[in-house]
Amino acid sequence: VRTIDWVDGGVEIIDQTALPARTVTRRLSTVNELVAAIQTLAVRGAPALGVAGALGVALAARQYREEALAGAVLRLETARPTAVNLARGVQRAAARLAAGPDAVLAEALAVRDEEIASSAAMAARGADLVTELCGPAPRLLTHCNTGGLATVVGGTALGVVAELHRRGALRGVVVSETRPLLQGARLTAWELGQLGIGYQLAVDGAGPFLMAQGMVDAVILGADRICANGDVINKVGTYAHALGAQRAGIPFLVVAPESTVDSATPSGADVKIEDRSPSEVLSFAGTLVAPAGAGAINPAFDITPHDLVTAIVTDRRTLRPDPAFSGKM
Ligand code: MRU
Repeated sequence: VRTIDWVDGGVEIIDQTALPARTVTRRLSTVNELVAAIQTLAVRGAPALGVAGALGVALAARQYREEALAGAVLRLETARPTAVNLARGVQRAAARLAAGPDAVLAEALAVRDEEIASSAAMAARGADLVTELCGPAPRLLTHCNTGGLATVVGGTALGVVAELHRRGALRGVVVSETRPLLQGARLTAWELGQLGIGYQLAVDGAGPFLMAQGMVDAVILGADRICANGDVINKVGTYAHALGAQRAGIPFLVVAPESTVDSATPSGADVKIEDRSPSEVLSFAGTLVAPAGAGAINPAFDITPHDLVTAIVTDRRTLRPDPAFSGKM
């Protein structure tokens, strides 16, 4: 099942806000509906956002003309700021606007198909690397959600986990719950269940301790943007896992398609990190979990410096950053 696709002249998504309780398919017929779906994380994950952005321009090309069209493209491009795939997908499809709606849709479908192919390539390359670094029966820790829900089908880091499972070369997976929106607990756990892969859920803060205890052999996760110097922007909590992995002396592996590599941005310091509503931190499942009037800060992503990264696996390359890595992406 594809998490996002173009069906009968509109965009269809699996609504990720309804998981794991219900698997709901939603049809989005207007740009405004798609922008709202992006902002509420009904569709999310860097590669899926790239596809959403491109398909959104295909919707816009059918819905608007001239200034209104330019405004719709801008709303899509800026719906969320951090994953480079979104703006990139929008720009790719928008570059075909002069050739008409069908040309825009063809470009958007090409973005979708490239992400599907990238997932397959990363799974194979990443599984080979994990086996090389960790041996035939590794216990992995992953953070956030990087499966088919975050791409179109397959996934990035979770695609590697699935491939290792298929090869009989996986001993266990720890899933970091990923506060505040629980992409690990709600989505990754659900996807692993669908795949028949056993896992243990852990609170985010347990990761570095489990690594120090020798209960995890490598950390494997995705990225929303990889900068020219190899700095990795990913779901908040990634940096703490990277520090834990370095201290424990275990590999810290990032799996992301080339569409997430942003060689025009020199380093993590140059990336806009999305600030989300304090209400996501102050409430849990609709119930306030802090004193009334409490303040909160809610960065959705963090920056992991490249020197903490053992390897970056893309659909085309396996890079092993070292201290002289700067500017190599
Ligand atoms: O806020 P989200 O859920 O869109 O954040 C997603 C992540 O941080 C993922 O780890 C990243 O996009 C990699 S997805 C293959």
